[in-house]
Amino acid sequence: MRFRPFLSPLHTRPCQNPRHRNPHRSSFLSLNPSSSSSMTTGARPLPCDPEEDPDEAICAALDGACSLSDAAGPPPGPTEIPLSGELRVARAWAHWRRIGAPRLVVAPMVDNSELPFRMLCRRYGAEAAYTPMLHSRIFSENEKYRRMEFTTCKEDHPLFVQFCANDPDILLEAAKVVEPYCDYVDINLGCPQRIARRGNYGAFLMDNLPLIKSLVQNLSINLHVPVSCKIRIFPSLEDTIAYAKMLEEAGCSLLAVHGRTRDQKDQKKIQADWDAIKAVKDALKIPVLANGNIRHMGDVYSCLDHTGADGVLSADSLLENPALFAGFRTMEWKEEEDGDGGLDQADLVVEYLKLCEQYPVPWRMVRSHVHKMLGDWFRMHPQVREELNAQSKLTFEWLHDMVKRLKELGGRIPLYQKGGAEERIMANGHAAYNS
Ligand SMILES: Cc1cc2nc3c(=O)[nH]c(=O)nc-3n(C[C@H](O)[C@H](O)[C@H](O)COP(=O)(O)O)c2cc1C
Repeated sequence: MRFRPFLSPLHTRPCQNPRHRNPHRSSFLSLNPSSSSSMTTGARPLPCDPEEDPDEAICAALDGACSLSDAAGPPPGPTEIPLSGELRVARAWAHWRRIGAPRLVVAPMVDNSELPFRMLCRRYGAEAAYTPMLHSRIFSENEKYRRMEFTTCKEDHPLFVQFCANDPDILLEAAKVVEPYCDYVDINLGCPQRIARRGNYGAFLMDNLPLIKSLVQNLSINLHVPVSCKIRIFPSLEDTIAYAKMLEEAGCSLLAVHGRTRDQKDQKKIQADWDAIKAVKDALKIPVLANGNIRHMGDVYSCLDHTGADGVLSADSLLENPALFAGFRTMEWKEEEDGDGGLDQADLVVEYLKLCEQYPVPWRMVRSHVHKMLGDWFRMHPQVREELNAQSKLTFEWLHDMVKRLKELGGRIPLYQKGGAEERIMANGHAAYNS
């Protein structure tokens, strides 16, 4: 079978979710477009229709599928009465440790932190990953949206599934569908885009803290998996700390802090505030992840040192360099002692395309990654970029051929690593990274 996706409730490591431990469940489950689901009632059309736009179509065939709701089995019952603060904190740490205390985390990225990209980053050092933000209402109403936008597999762990929401019951309905397949259900409280303002979610909920509290409480009482939140900071440190403490008390088990405010949208120009992240870490008892300005492993160490955080998230820089967490740097961040790491972005594109054949996703995601990973190559050979842009319908064959042609056109754009590949091979007797 060419396609062995998606959803596996079977984990090889011990896990808090009791259904993860059921030895009788099969290890691979996938979604069936034709199977009916109670959640399709009242479904609205997807924002973009694959029949009209080839980029919205899935990039490979889906075989042997069954429905997500069938696969999930009956939803779990509520946990129990709300836990006391101390017990909740102890459980938060126990869970974090049980999943391996991941420190190097792929941040949530709409259309970009999808399954094949997560798997690529995991091969190169990522210890956990978030899904792209999913819209809880559309997710709970629309079977097609669930099938297109949420895929996973048994190796895709630890996994945070992120939702945006503004209704506690709708969020819970969506969260219950994914909880057998993830390690955290995450609430996006940081999206600053216009679409989030219009939809009243993300960072715009910072104007309605009681609503945020009820979103977190409802999940933490009714789910088996822990709830995490991803926030932006307030302009005032005092407000930020009060906000973070409120989330912890409401039942948040892990907090990711993006050190920029809602109005600081230009991430390339505005430095993330690591002091604010440190203050949150110092004030909270649960695990805290730092987010902002992680461009290479040097930043990871500086950030962990500066903030005392338990891990970091990286977004933008991973798109260009998915091997960042394995210590590879692009030319822009190369240090004097770094050598050619024996890997470049074109190699990573080839690996990514193979993962897409294994774990199909909409072509728009593939197109976006190819552009980001090959940015430096396209600057050298802009005519190839134009050819790509002119392809209204992509195929893997065409993309593989494009990478081959780029390489034949000449030039090499390596990713760099301390000592370079040769030195590491001499020291270890074998290559320090495995593809
Ligand atoms: C393409 C892209 C898509 C993003 N989508 C999401 C998202 O779905 N949910 C979210 O919480 N943040 C999203 N973000 C924000 C990132 O998770 C992260 O907070 C931000 O980019 C700062 O991290 P960085 O400095 O490493 O890029 C997105 C960022 C990028 C670049």
